[in-house]
Amino acid sequence: MLTSKRILLIIGGGIAAFKSLDLIRRLRERGVEVTPVLTRAGAEFVTPLSVSALAGQKVYTDLFDLTDEAEMGHIQLSRSTDLIVVAPATADLMAKMAQGHASDLASTLLLATDTPVLIAPAMNVRMWQHPATQRNIASLRADGITFVGPEDGDMACGEHGPGRMSEPLEIVAVVNAALANGPLKGRRILVTSGPTHEPIDPVRYIANRSSGAQGTAIARALVALGADVVFVTGPAETPPPDEVELCRVQTAQQMLEACQAALPVDAAICAAAVADWRVASAATSKMKKTKSGLPQMEFAENPDILATISQMDAGRPALVIGFAAETDDVIENATAKRLRKGCDWIVANDVSPATGIMGGAENEVTLITETGAEPWPRMTKARVAGELARRVADALG
Ligand code: C5P
Repeated sequence: MLTSKRILLIIGGGIAAFKSLDLIRRLRERGVEVTPVLTRAGAEFVTPLSVSALAGQKVYTDLFDLTDEAEMGHIQLSRSTDLIVVAPATADLMAKMAQGHASDLASTLLLATDTPVLIAPAMNVRMWQHPATQRNIASLRADGITFVGPEDGDMACGEHGPGRMSEPLEIVAVVNAALANGPLKGRRILVTSGPTHEPIDPVRYIANRSSGAQGTAIARALVALGADVVFVTGPAETPPPDEVELCRVQTAQQMLEACQAALPVDAAICAAAVADWRVASAATSKMKKTKSGLPQMEFAENPDILATISQMDAGRPALVIGFAAETDDVIENATAKRLRKGCDWIVANDVSPATGIMGGAENEVTLITETGAEPWPRMTKARVAGELARRVADALG
């Protein structure tokens, strides 16, 4: 699908630039023609020679290279391409873009272009969270720039949090979506994700350890195949993906209402860890310690969103997928759950602490359908998501 597409790849100055070498390779494997541009800071991390060798093309580095101006002016360079990808996009480069600077070749190209721009930010977590960067992000989004990442994780600087550049294959998937008519184009898909918070009183709540990582990865993978995704998320640790219709909720009841408001959809994927119970009547003011003993709480059952959507009489999505996080008899329990809830597929996994799956980067799932149980090998949550998205595309036809 990417064959013969042309990408101008701007490599900014950050340690993540080493991943851009792999990105060039991955893009070229798919038949993409990559024209590389290396900023001066980028050249501190990867050499122009490695970049041009991998791209199989000259690397552009300096705005005032007169030979290049004669060969191909910066205006032409910025426009004779299907997509501009900035990876890594540093805080500095993003600030220049947001402000409209044209102080070096990269920022000039980005200002002069009329082609779509996709950026893969990479920076220290504090730099990402700084109000100045957040203002720039908002401006760039408003200008129609597409983002991929950053991801949460350990960083080269020893800190942890959002700021890691997305992996090359993840960027390739988003490039694909930006350039191609993916197989899910025109399909509207609902994804629920994250935990729910059920209030006890205005300051306390019942929650669970779901990070939202798998639901977020699924939404991303669906977007990469061209789907319009409605992403209904509880208060998750993983930041929501870009390019989705985002709906943030707190409680299971709110999640159900948001899902119902999102209908009709072609498919629903319920990856949220919805609380089974809520406090029947949450206190409206903070509960106090009293000498008369411990508070008594009554619980009420929450609505089952997956079962509600699966068992709709009219307007049921063509495909409804649930998850089953189990610690014992995984396949048996998940198979029974598929029938009990009335969904089409169940993605089952073992979340026993020893597996390291809950909150981890990897997952090992079994896909349970009408025809049986299909175990998948252990892989990253992003790859599980990619595989599931492809299956969804096949099923929707
Ligand atoms: O019943 P259990 O919680 O194990 O089922 C898990 C599946 O059901 C998940 O897909 C989850 O998103 C969904 N679910 C739901 N609403 C609930 C409970 C679970 O949608 N109240």
